[in-house]
Amino acid sequence: MSQQCKDVFIKVVLILVLFGCIVFTSVKKQVFYHVTDHVAVSDVQVIGNNDEADGKGGKKFVRSVQNKSVVYDPDILREQIVRLHSKLYENKSNSRCLHRDPKCLVIGVAKSGTKELVEFASLHPNIVSIHGVVKPDLFHTNQSVRMRSLNLMPGKKLCAYDDQIVLVKSDNFLAMPEMPEILHTFNPDLKLILIVREPVDRMKSGTSFRISQTKQHAMRFVFKPEEIPEMDSLFVNLTTYQVRSDAPGVNSSTYHIGLERYLKYFSIEQILVIESHEFKQNPVDVLQRLERFLKLKPVINSTYFAYVKEKGFYCINSDRIYCYGSDRGRTAVRELRPETIKTLKSYFKPHNIAFFKLIGRSFDW
Ligand SMILES: *[C@@H]1O[C@H](CO)[C@@H](O)[C@H](O)[C@H]1NC(C)=O
Ligand SMILES: *[C@@H]1O[C@H](CO)[C@@H](O)[C@H](O)[C@H]1NC(C)=O
Ligand SMILES: *[C@@H]1O[C@H](CO)[C@@H](O)[C@H](O)[C@H]1NC(C)=O
Ligand SMILES: *[C@@H]1O[C@H](CO)[C@@H](O)[C@H](O)[C@H]1NC(C)=O
Ligand SMILES: *[C@@H]1O[C@H](CO)[C@@H](O)[C@H](O)[C@H]1NC(C)=O
Ligand SMILES: *[C@@H]1O[C@H](CO)[C@@H](O)[C@H](O)[C@H]1NC(C)=O
Repeated sequence: MSQQCKDVFIKVVLILVLFGCIVFTSVKKQVFYHVTDHVAVSDVQVIGNNDEADGKGGKKFVRSVQNKSVVYDPDILREQIVRLHSKLYENKSNSRCLHRDPKCLVIGVAKSGTKELVEFASLHPNIVSIHGVVKPDLFHTNQSVRMRSLNLMPGKKLCAYDDQIVLVKSDNFLAMPEMPEILHTFNPDLKLILIVREPVDRMKSGTSFRISQTKQHAMRFVFKPEEIPEMDSLFVNLTTYQVRSDAPGVNSSTYHIGLERYLKYFSIEQILVIESHEFKQNPVDVLQRLERFLKLKPVINSTYFAYVKEKGFYCINSDRIYCYGSDRGRTAVRELRPETIKTLKSYFKPHNIAFFKLIGRSFDW
């Protein structure tokens, strides 16, 4: 073969390999994110109020729905929420749909269900939300800095009527010492939401999420359990079994430290605290609490939700059942060693107690 021929041959092979990779990637994407399962009656149940109980004692019963297909796709789920939201917003205000500053902000913490909370809440006709996380600049005193920050985000075309509240979420403003003052300057009447999760669970989930993201960026192959790096050393020094208190996951889980900083600028009545597990188990109750917190008319009820038993989470109930990814909440993680868990639990115990004291409630952590 001449040199030229060889060159052409190598180029063709490279192009074929590249093409193969692209096809493989998109097929994988489809397999992972566009699964449509047909679930039998017994698998999908809607929790509704018992007519016979007519509200006495708030008795709940489980009612099966006719066979509905279940769609696992976060994008389709979001579209459905927008559709339901528009249907519910029948009495549009006379005002114009304009860019409006956020009136309510989720200050954290990541990996506690912030995304589900914001997206489910935007079912409400008087709540509109920006998809994705917002950056500190969105609360800058200088309006042109705010607008620039907004233009850098997806979903920037959002507009709201004057009877609608713009709800946004941050990645972790709770742990950023400078944020309470910035937010207070921006709007002292801002409503804040803090959704929290048991620290050790959250750390495990956050880490496995990062690992799987890295892996997916590198290549979309499923990796073997033994390839997952051990997480223990991220949180504790394995020689001394000292907790690495400055490590990212650890530092951001001492919730009372962050909350204390906020309470210098905002009253506790301005902050709605939600527990992650509670939200997952009973999104309707939590969303109704949110409606009252924002002084909105009660709209959200169990009609809009379905519990998918085999997955253990709630989805949106409409013509079909719409859910986040089918792997949601089931990340393959390598477990932490029992000693690590014990060490972390006892490290967080006093921090959790301090947090419960601040909010006047305690959780089963
Ligand atoms: C639900 O689906 C199952 C299996 O496909 C079928 O046997 C059953 O009759 C269906 N039930 C209803 C209420 O449609
Ligand atoms: C819509 O607005 C009209 C006129 O303001 C009012 O009479 C009606 O009750 C409203 N409907 C709902 C569902 O809020
Ligand atoms: C606001 O920000 C813009 C762009 O960064 C800058 O040109 C302008 O001078 C700032 N205005 C004030 C009042 O600081
Ligand atoms: C996390 O670390 C930073 C910098 O070391 C510190 O200012 C902050 O108070 C720590 N804790 C929290 C909860 O943010
Ligand atoms: C663990 O602690 C020991 C003793 O303080 C120290 O020498 C070592 O560098 C630490 N290891 C890590 C990974 O920080
Ligand atoms: C939920 O709200 C809708 C609209 O107001 C209503 O038609 C439906 O009966 C309610 N469902 C329950 C279970 O309360």
